[in-house]
Amino acid sequence: MNCGSCGRAHGAGARFCGGCGRSLALRCPACGAEGKPDAQFCEACGASLVARPEPGRGADVVDDAAARKVVTIVFADLIGSTSLHERLDPESVGRLMDRYYQVVREPVEAHGGSVVQLLGDGVMCAFGVPHVAEDDAIRAVRAAVGMQRAFREFAREQSDVAGNLGLRVAVNTGEVVVSDEHRAGLGDPLNVAARLQQEGQDGDVLVSHSTQRLVSALVTLTPVGVFSLKGRSETVAAFRVVSLDRPAGAPATAFVGREDELRRIMAVYDAAVAARRARLAVILGSPGLGKSRLITELARRLGERATVVTARCDAAGGATFAPLAEALRATLHLDAGASGEALRAAIEAVVPGEESERARIGGGVAALLAGTPASPEETFFVVRRLLAALATVQPVVLAIDDLQWAEPLLLDLTEHLVQWSTEVPLLVLVAARPELRDTRSSLAAPGGLVSDVVTLTGLDAGAATRLAANVIGADELPAAVAGRVLATSEGNPLFVGELVRMLVHDGALKREGDRWVAGVELAALEMPPTIQALLAARIERLRPEERTVLERAAVVGRQFSRAAVAHLLPGEVGNLDARLESLRRSELVEPDAGWFLGEPALRFHHVLIRDAAYRRVLKNTRAELHGRFAEWVESRVGEAVEHDETIGWHLEQAHRHLRELGPIDAQGRALGERAARYLAAAGRRALARDDLPLAASLLGRALDRLDAADPNRADLALDWCEALLAAGDVGPAQGAIDELGRFTGDSERLRAWHTCFTGQLAALTDPQVLRTTGDAVAAAAEALASLGDAAGEAKAHFVHAVALSRLGKVGACEAALDRALAAARRGGDRRRSNAVL
Ligand SMILES: Nc1ncnc2c1ncn2[C@@H]1O[C@H](COP(=O)(O)OP(=O)(O)O)[C@@H](O)[C@H]1O
Ligand SMILES: [Mg+2]
Repeated sequence: MNCGSCGRAHGAGARFCGGCGRSLALRCPACGAEGKPDAQFCEACGASLVARPEPGRGADVVDDAAARKVVTIVFADLIGSTSLHERLDPESVGRLMDRYYQVVREPVEAHGGSVVQLLGDGVMCAFGVPHVAEDDAIRAVRAAVGMQRAFREFAREQSDVAGNLGLRVAVNTGEVVVSDEHRAGLGDPLNVAARLQQEGQDGDVLVSHSTQRLVSALVTLTPVGVFSLKGRSETVAAFRVVSLDRPAGAPATAFVGREDELRRIMAVYDAAVAARRARLAVILGSPGLGKSRLITELARRLGERATVVTARCDAAGGATFAPLAEALRATLHLDAGASGEALRAAIEAVVPGEESERARIGGGVAALLAGTPASPEETFFVVRRLLAALATVQPVVLAIDDLQWAEPLLLDLTEHLVQWSTEVPLLVLVAARPELRDTRSSLAAPGGLVSDVVTLTGLDAGAATRLAANVIGADELPAAVAGRVLATSEGNPLFVGELVRMLVHDGALKREGDRWVAGVELAALEMPPTIQALLAARIERLRPEERTVLERAAVVGRQFSRAAVAHLLPGEVGNLDARLESLRRSELVEPDAGWFLGEPALRFHHVLIRDAAYRRVLKNTRAELHGRFAEWVESRVGEAVEHDETIGWHLEQAHRHLRELGPIDAQGRALGERAARYLAAAGRRALARDDLPLAASLLGRALDRLDAADPNRADLALDWCEALLAAGDVGPAQGAIDELGRFTGDSERLRAWHTCFTGQLAALTDPQVLRTTGDAVAAAAEALASLGDAAGEAKAHFVHAVALSRLGKVGACEAALDRALAAARRGGDRRRSNAVL
């Protein structure tokens, strides 16, 4: 038989693949029993072991080749194996090692990871392949701790034969490139995990900084220092896992806003109580908008008035009725370990009515809780009757969270309860992501069984600002920080919280006394890794053909159009409208007001969704697509200059990605030059209309696209200096002046301009040198006049005038200004004429 993972052929007795280390045994998709390597059908339940379509994809779909993904790597290594080889017969060592691999493998597979490579005694495992999930990192950490536990047991058993064995484990998260050839991904994160492991002690689970950022709210960690790892220049901060319990402290932040939503749900509840009939309210919203929190808040406000039964569906699937079983267990205060008899007795105690009916409900619910439910019809019946029994005491709220992950039968049960619970004050409250519109539309729109659908959008600015401050217990945040967080989060409460915590973590937001201040200047906000994981997992769950549309749209930008995406898709696309519609129903994209290059505009629902989709695309593909898109825009807009900035931006991105991939060839260089041309044209127009910050930014970016030796840099640097100094942006101005200085060698004209800019900067920053500045620029004015550069002459007189005015020489200053104005008029330099006037 062949390994399902790497394809290597094996003899009949093999249990693990010699090529990649995966278990050759097949797990039954239906009942979970392990099948023999060659079995076609499960011996426990008869299901097929051969045809195993992965969830969410049909057999006919080929996934797109390669993508960038964030995965979590666990690396485990054995301590003390060298002496094993000395002391034991090779055959015994072989047997021992087989056991060892199995011991470390089991917790990994139990937590949904896979062993991807065996390197001698080292075992490399990955979480996030072939599909990333939002909780990859935490599952990896739990698996790593599980490895250490299982290994302790193993080492104790083997200590007579094997002596002292130890295990070091490290976990690291990072971006890799995953392809058909490299299913576990290629990239530096794998090396970091392997190296970090070497810094650990026997029994340790070390976690790198990047993993820590994903799990620090979920498990207790302690810092162990910063390591410079062998063969690497960058250092890595590491943490040790202290326990799998949540860190102490950290209470939930106060609830804000959402009064209207709560009122609407409460109205459905009141109607259910008044009519003594089940009513259904639905909360729909993208991840992080606060669906779960809304359920909690509703339960809190109902307090002792109602019995709230809360079920949560799990992304990882699981038994159909498990979410409900867990919820009922909690409501009935039953232990996980209780015997069937005890369960039955406890249930019967709350069920009124006839003896035979009580026994039926007790038996049915007990079976449900034990994970062996009766037939669906019977289960529906007993759940309905149990809820009715609970509702004889006081109204009941059955909340089912994350219903988009429910199995179809659980959805059926939900509908059944609403339809058939008469004479029962019952609110069924479900929360789901917009994907529910595709999986069960009858539950996602009002009418029919649904009394109301509350669709969540971002918090309003006031509530979001309060939340941002509450997250860190501040009274108020600096306005600039609050503004940034609001803009990036768009009011999504999860994003607000994560962004603020990230700013604190990165030192961009600091406590000073009892105030919070902005630490460093805030550049564009990065996406917090937790959000990245969440959105990446959401995108990964899409069908490949929809995912491709999303990725291509991301190259265009936050806003795009159907035709733009069509142009970037490979080959013929027949069903683009259907794919876009499906993305719209999932609230990943939406129609936008206005037009995009003459077509109705579409946009990403959230800028972070765009960023997450973009991150998946290989840099080389990004470069190709940006280039292709720029050409498409060029071909559509003709001579219209208002698109220069857009075209320049796309060419710039294409060039930047190529450059990041390595040395650039002639074609790449030409791309950079085209980018520079567009950016420079847009920058010079901005300068002419005195939009100075924009001009400075565009001109600086244009320069960055050119090789150091490119002759066009000189004129660009000149305009860049002009924009920066006119804007009073003295910080970067010195760099711009130095850049111009590189080209003054054999050009008297550029030398004179250089003198002018140097003088202008000095006049702004260094009053000591005003006198020498004045003399130098006066000389420069003469030189530029004799060269016939009227604009330069005007510039020099202007700087001279500034220096003279600072020196308090009013008369001389006015004379210099007159000369500046005359030269500017001669040179047709309207901008400077206006500046002088
Ligand atoms: N109205 C709110 N007030 C305060 N915090 C909120 C609010 N809504 C959501 N949050 C917080 O934002 C985060 C995400 O909310 P959650 O309910 O988990 O979102 P969802 O279930 O829609 O994915 C949680 O930490 C939650 O406590
Ligand atoms: Mg939730």
